[in-house]
Amino acid sequence: MVAKLLVVGGGKMGAALLEGLLISGWARPTDLAVAEASPARQAELASPEGLAGRFPGLEIVSEPVQAEGAVVAVKPGDVEGACQALGFAGVRRVLSVAAGVKLADLARWCGEGAAVLRAMPNTAALVGDAATAVAPGPGATSEDMAWATGIMRAVGKVVEVPERWMDAVTGLSGSGPAYLFLVVEAMVDAGVLVGLPREVASELARQTLVGAARLLAVTGEAPEALRAAVTSPGGTTAAGLRQLEARAVRSAFVEAVAAATQRALELGA
Ligand SMILES: NC(=O)c1ccc[n+]([C@@H]2O[C@H](COP(=O)([O-])OP(=O)(O)OC[C@H]3O[C@@H](n4cnc5c(N)ncnc54)[C@H](OP(=O)(O)O)[C@@H]3O)[C@@H](O)[C@H]2O)c1
Repeated sequence: MVAKLLVVGGGKMGAALLEGLLISGWARPTDLAVAEASPARQAELASPEGLAGRFPGLEIVSEPVQAEGAVVAVKPGDVEGACQALGFAGVRRVLSVAAGVKLADLARWCGEGAAVLRAMPNTAALVGDAATAVAPGPGATSEDMAWATGIMRAVGKVVEVPERWMDAVTGLSGSGPAYLFLVVEAMVDAGVLVGLPREVASELARQTLVGAARLLAVTGEAPEALRAAVTSPGGTTAAGLRQLEARAVRSAFVEAVAAATQRALELGA
């Protein structure tokens, strides 16, 4: 039977996508196949705690096979080989999540007649909360785009963008989780400075980021409105924010996103 979807690369991102698709009901295990080159990783996927152990019927193969569509989730350096194997297997609809790999290259490697698309998720895909941008290749129709965004929605929120925005997406949401982890690290150290035991500071700082993120998500309010709501006149938060502004934290984030965007451009060239 031809699989509804083949995921090439059963690593962190491939497994997270498969799990999201199964949990959301996008597909049944027997609709899906994963092509994984590494025998050690194949064994992990097949183990009772692995994906195929938890979702019996999910097929594990060592090389791409015919399917209605495929997601390429291998490291960027392995994408060319994976696409060529997909072209050989006759797969005509391909979505790549590999960072920095261009649509023109994907189209060339997958062969004539294949619809290609690319997506840039971030590491929060591993917990079903990614911020993902999807761009269509020249041959992709609106149906292909709906197919690709439907797949990526299984692991979080999705926006549609033209490919020329992908370096900016990488600089903002691709690298973004790391910027926020740095903020949490700094807040833990700050908590220790003002007298809290490290474990207490760590628990409070982590939950502060999680709680603030949930407020943004659940209320849909603008960040400036949420900030104003907790900043009383002459109060503690205003005193703290004054120091962040005096130390140009806002401008540091602007420069970080701009530098990461520039680096993505250089790496893709
Ligand atoms: N992880 C993230 O947060 C994240 C975020 C955005 C984008 N991405 C993109 O997602 C892609 C996958 O990343 P990852 O973190 O999931 O990497 P990973 O854990 O290393 O997974 C890749 C897996 O694919 C296997 N593989 C390599 N070539 C193959 C082929 N031709 N056929 C079948 N399987 C093959 C690899 O086996 P070997 O180890 O034997 O090579 C490995 O098990 C990357 O291109 C990355 O840019 C990841």
